[in-house]
Amino acid sequence: MLTQKKLQAQVVQVGVDHGAIPDHVAIIMDGNGRWASARSRPRTEGHRAGTGNVRRIVQHLARKGVKHVTLFAFSTENWERPAEEVSFLMELVREVIKTEVAELHRQGIRVRHLGTLDRLDPGFRQEIENAVALTALNQGMTLNVAFNYGGRDEIVRAVRRIVESRVPVEDVDEALVRRHLFCPELPDPDLMIRTGGEFRISNFLLFQSAYSEFYSTETNWPDFGPEDVDRALEAYARRQRRFGKVI
Ligand code: IPE
Ligand code: IPE
Ligand code: MG
Repeated sequence: MLTQKKLQAQVVQVGVDHGAIPDHVAIIMDGNGRWASARSRPRTEGHRAGTGNVRRIVQHLARKGVKHVTLFAFSTENWERPAEEVSFLMELVREVIKTEVAELHRQGIRVRHLGTLDRLDPGFRQEIENAVALTALNQGMTLNVAFNYGGRDEIVRAVRRIVESRVPVEDVDEALVRRHLFCPELPDPDLMIRTGGEFRISNFLLFQSAYSEFYSTETNWPDFGPEDVDRALEAYARRQRRFGKVI
């Protein structure tokens, strides 16, 4: 029989997160194109405005005490967009690396990449690797950039490496699969925010989002400000996370 005290302890453990700040916030930064269309501007301008929004949101989340932030910047499916849009996005990310990484490093932020670099040109690949290496020992927040990332691609790559390793079948478990993901030590997202109004995951963090709290807002990414972050954090704090249990 559970005493009242034990029961209370259990509730806290299972995580009624009242007032809690999530450790890991993942964001699907969507709606750049619609932001631009609403202003009769080309989609590329929406991407520029969206990129300009990244710094203030990352800094706000850092101030709030969030330890890990993962941003969905470019999916494995986004290659299907018009070639000019794809190359614009590539150039934009290169520009951001040049202008932002030194400052992120100064702030002690650790930058990591989720996804693969094989489709990128060698110079660009090197710039991403340099940014990751430069900040690797930083102790502050981790900023994970999902770029050329797909959740299915990540799982398929994990399975391939597991098969290659000839591990005995009985040793294949969730922990082993996790160890073969792009960033095995990254905790699962507690809160996943999607801007731009859709209620779908679009191939983001499929394995890791099993128990993430999902928050969708109509606001397009370039307009998503610190006060919108606060609204998402408040909504998160009111959620009751049960992880399949009865509490
Ligand atoms: C998100 O904005 C940015 C990327 C996917 C790279 P979109 O470009 O998808 O904007 P919408 O959804 O068309 O408005
Ligand atoms: C998800 O947005 C990918 C990124 C934000 C990078 P999309 O615009 O690609 O997603 P769909 O096509 O609406 O599902
Ligand atoms: Mg979109």
